[in-house]
Amino acid sequence: MTGRPSNHIPPELLLEASVERLKDKPLKRLFEQDAKRHQRFSFDACGLHLDYSKNRIDDETMSALHHWLRSCDFERYQQHFLQGEVVNHTEQRAAAHFALRSLSRQSCLVNGKDVMPRVREQLARMGGLVDSVRSGEWRGYTGRPIRQIVNIGIGGSGLGPKMATEALSPYHAEQLIAHYVSNVDASEMHQVLRQCEPETTLFVICSKSFVTKETLTNALIARRWFFAAGGNTAVLHRHFVAVTSNRPEANRFGIHPDQQYEMWDWVGGRFSLWSSIGLSTALMIGMERFHELLRGAESMDRHFATAPQERNMPVVLALLSAWYSRYWQAQSHAVLPYDHYLRFLPEHLQQLDMESCGKSVDREGEPVEQDTGSILWGTAGTDGQHTYFQLLHQGTRLVPADFILIKESHNPYGDNQLWLVASAIAQMEGLMRGKTGKEAAIELSDKGLSDERVEALLPYCTFEGNRPSNALVMERLTPTTLGALLALYEHKTFVQSVLWNINPFDQWGVEYGKQLARTIVDEAECDDAAERAEHDASTQSLIDRLLK
Ligand code: F6P
Repeated sequence: MTGRPSNHIPPELLLEASVERLKDKPLKRLFEQDAKRHQRFSFDACGLHLDYSKNRIDDETMSALHHWLRSCDFERYQQHFLQGEVVNHTEQRAAAHFALRSLSRQSCLVNGKDVMPRVREQLARMGGLVDSVRSGEWRGYTGRPIRQIVNIGIGGSGLGPKMATEALSPYHAEQLIAHYVSNVDASEMHQVLRQCEPETTLFVICSKSFVTKETLTNALIARRWFFAAGGNTAVLHRHFVAVTSNRPEANRFGIHPDQQYEMWDWVGGRFSLWSSIGLSTALMIGMERFHELLRGAESMDRHFATAPQERNMPVVLALLSAWYSRYWQAQSHAVLPYDHYLRFLPEHLQQLDMESCGKSVDREGEPVEQDTGSILWGTAGTDGQHTYFQLLHQGTRLVPADFILIKESHNPYGDNQLWLVASAIAQMEGLMRGKTGKEAAIELSDKGLSDERVEALLPYCTFEGNRPSNALVMERLTPTTLGALLALYEHKTFVQSVLWNINPFDQWGVEYGKQLARTIVDEAECDDAAERAEHDASTQSLIDRLLK
């Protein structure tokens, strides 16, 4: 252990030196030379265990990485963020999603105002609806209880609750089934409606802005379907509720004011599953479990706010990602949950991380000088091992990976869980240690292959190894551990943004796409050639071919 680096050596010099030092020291050797490596590079927080020892790091690297973060004025940014100040400067907003789960605190300031009374009030209102639907007291227009919940919303208004609802499937009320519709492709809605009965379906329209095209178009399909089946405006309130910060538009749609749940401008879409946007999740798991989810996240918030940098899980994960991105030119990062219920986690994290960190201009409006935001991807369970893991093991690209491992399954059939977890551990081991030519030659000879054949196959059967991974381990997937895990990735995203000096809370790129689509739809619907915008020949040809 070399202690803290001298503050007057720029961290990038120390980190470049680390790359030079570690280039020829494979992880396997680092483990062989240091019996305590695993012990030093692993710790627990909030029901999660992080083992980051299989990374291309040593003590000096970690010190230099922490030095890098300090040099970015991390503490100040973290204070601003946690004190509910305006950290999203381009939209002049705070990003205080943590307030939604600050339930053990008396007060929580956002823009200088205590938001907890309103947060608690919304939770209580949600609780009223949730209890009444789950108990069967809430009746549809023909007097039958609700059986299907259809969440209509996109991005953070769809993906977050869908991921959390699926993750907590073992806690669902048996009589209810949840569906999620997000895409403007009507086939998605069509498939869902086929499984629903108008008399027993509750639509939860989630849209902070209530102007998102996909959501409103799908909500209109749902309303027409409901009317066609005998429903009418007088009973709409029994089947349509909304979560929004745009009450006038929700009113215009016909949502009863009492059935509008609040969403605040200080919560970004991708951070909103803790708010009323989580209504469909709460309907499925009940309010008690929803509170456990919030408590799990709150414990991670506390950890993030108080743990020393060196033992701060979001900080460590962020530093490692940024380390590979900037100093090892890693383009992407895999998230590999070995649990079926977490299968939508990679998608959720794609939005969280890539919408937040996919920026090329820094906080001062200047072009960034380093790569930001890695390409995040992954799938659940062993399926990936039979597809893209080949590239992870033997491809030319470096892909750091987070393996998420859960000890106990909710469905302990036979030895499935043993195989599931053993497979993940084996993959991490294989990626790290590789297989030497000598080991491969022995294996091939043992199979009875001739020396000539062994020699010919050797280049293909040798594994370089030295491929990094993190293990994130929990005993069991519960609302509490899920809450902690999701908050962990939220804070990791924030820390990365500090390292890259970018605003993680806006998404102008997404807004641009929406604006262009609007123009093209308007043109397609208008016969007047003079009203057409100028397009390049390729775009115009696609419009003519597909939309005329
Ligand atoms: O994807 C961009 C975005 O603005 C997200 O931030 C948001 O979660 C999503 O669109 C949906 O927006 P809204 O909740 O306003 O419908």
